[in-house]
Amino acid sequence: MAQVPADLRDARFLLDEDTRPPQPVPPVILTTPTAMRRWRAANSGTLGFVPTMGYLHEGHMELVRRSIEENLHTVVSIFVNPTQFGPHEDFSRYPRDEVRDLAQLSAAGVDAVYLPGATDMYPEGYQTYVEVEQVTQALEGAARPGHFRGVTTVVLKLFNAVGPDRAYFGRKDAQQLRVIQRMVRDLDVGVEVVPCEIVREADGLAMSSRNVYLTPEQRVAAPILERSLEDARAMWEAGERDADALRDAVASVLDGELLADVEYVSLADNVTLDELRGEVNRPALLSLVAKFGKTRLLDNVELV
Ligand SMILES: Nc1ncnc2c1ncn2[C@@H]1O[C@H](COP(=O)(O)OP(=O)(O)OP(=O)(O)O)[C@@H](O)[C@H]1O
Ligand SMILES: [Mg+2]
Repeated sequence: MAQVPADLRDARFLLDEDTRPPQPVPPVILTTPTAMRRWRAANSGTLGFVPTMGYLHEGHMELVRRSIEENLHTVVSIFVNPTQFGPHEDFSRYPRDEVRDLAQLSAAGVDAVYLPGATDMYPEGYQTYVEVEQVTQALEGAARPGHFRGVTTVVLKLFNAVGPDRAYFGRKDAQQLRVIQRMVRDLDVGVEVVPCEIVREADGLAMSSRNVYLTPEQRVAAPILERSLEDARAMWEAGERDADALRDAVASVLDGELLADVEYVSLADNVTLDELRGEVNRPALLSLVAKFGKTRLLDNVELV
């Protein structure tokens, strides 16, 4: 009988396939639209897609888990899209950590990560953009001219390369979700847009890659955003229907926080995002943007 080395004698289970924990297969990494399209052509079956700008947090990972649950394959893209940043915004200092992102996606079990370079997406001579006309006008569209034109353009390009059946978007970016839903309907895109709930830190702050910019003092103050919205939601639940009263309730809570510089508080039609006046008699989106120093944070609740 062959000698079994002493240190393996009690570890024969290591040789038994069935008792080994499943080894995660690292995701395939694709860096060009052509490589992405070829991978999709070779992998049939339902595909869920999660577009991100990376620096992943639990908000992103919730979308990823949902996609993995609902589809045979899941692809996540990481692309900090230059065309959705204004000239004076934080494109060049946007947080990036590709190594950590890939480790998280690998552990979650995604099939492929799409990591295109800026020149693969926008080569010399690029000149085609998608514009959704109305639902892009207010709120983030008004505050960030050209932002949604960049978002819709990149999302359609990503869809074209990835070929998903479903795409997962967070409700934190409430206007973005409505803009994408409009584009998908208007252009017969044939992708099911799946909205996902806002994932929050234990103290209520909506998770965001940009939270990393906050100083310790700003981080302590930032949950006021959610508290102000929850106060107004409690008023709504108690029967308050006056649009100004609901907006004012949010604004007055935020007034108490000197570190929060409020950019807007909006109560809008939940679908068209037209600002509401007087008595509110339909589902509404209560949303806000406040700056803590240079860091612009957004949050919202739906009043339905
Ligand atoms: N806290 C969250 N809960 C649910 N979904 C989220 C959350 N944060 C981001 N998402 C969603 O993840 C997707 C990718 O977003 P993105 O990569 O821009 O991350 P982000 O955290 O929003 O970063 P930033 O705040 O800097 O824009 C979007 O659909 C977005 O709505
Ligand atoms: Mg974002």
